[in-house]
Amino acid sequence: MNYRHAYHAGNHADVLKHLVLCRIIALLSRKEAPFAYLDSHAGVGLYDLRGDQASRTGEWLEGIAKIWQAEDVPEPFADYLGVIRAMNPEGELRHYPGSPELARRLSREQDRLQLNEKHPEDGRLLKENMKGDRRVAVHLGEGWHVPRALLPTQEKRMLMLIDPPFEQDDELERCVESLGDAIARMRQAIVAIWYPIKDLRQLRKFYRDLEKSGAPKLLRVELYVHPTDESLRLNGSGLVISNPPWGLEDELKQLLPWLAERLGLSQGGWRMDWLIEEKTSA
Ligand SMILES: C[S@@+](CC[C@H](N)C(=O)[O-])C[C@H]1O[C@@H](n2cnc3c(N)ncnc32)[C@H](O)[C@@H]1O
Repeated sequence: MNYRHAYHAGNHADVLKHLVLCRIIALLSRKEAPFAYLDSHAGVGLYDLRGDQASRTGEWLEGIAKIWQAEDVPEPFADYLGVIRAMNPEGELRHYPGSPELARRLSREQDRLQLNEKHPEDGRLLKENMKGDRRVAVHLGEGWHVPRALLPTQEKRMLMLIDPPFEQDDELERCVESLGDAIARMRQAIVAIWYPIKDLRQLRKFYRDLEKSGAPKLLRVELYVHPTDESLRLNGSGLVISNPPWGLEDELKQLLPWLAERLGLSQGGWRMDWLIEEKTSA
């Protein structure tokens, strides 16, 4: 386990993932009923963009730095950027929230968070960063066991983020298995899987496997910063989302073109479509 998210915090892939996460939470919050948030590969929760690790790559300069003070930013960015502004009250961008911190700040009193991180040091930091919030439980276990260990939740509504480091060859397959495990336990589960757009051959298999996952509905959302070609660099990233809340697709139609224009490097682009469409009764 060599991956440390601090090197990549706030990059274009984090922006896409975290924006979508914030929108799902906002749409879930329209109803009073509580929801559970699960994060199987949670990271440490808080990042210092001026710290040693983030400074070495400077990836955030091509991500959050390009949008956090843009004047024409579409309204649905408000929650995400509001958290970042609150963490940087002096007006200089330094502190960046990971997915656990975004979910913690944007969820409500009645909601509950279950965070999991396998790396012992990162898990310790995550616990430290989340301490004092009694709605949050931190587990230091195997992320791929999370659906079987923690589902179904007592809350009828559940959002799980699956965001592995993709260090191992089998992680795309394990994402599909985890989605299947989650849907088998909670058919209505909202599961968001983040993935890098690099190796197109592997991705084509991933999409085919996802189509057989058993999810009732599955939305695919992708943001490109370079043309998608056979090169193995990070050309963009995507999320597949099972049972996305009503309204998400329409919002993302508005947000993705703006993001692609802002974050595109050699060539920005996006797509959104249904990998599994809801069956309508005849
Ligand atoms: C991409 S980062 C997570 C970033 C975080 N979700 C966010 O958006 O802020 C992936 C994390 O998974 C952890 N990890 C790696 N293998 C794992 C495993 N098998 N189970 C759980 N966590 C794992 C890594 O230590 C790393 O912190």
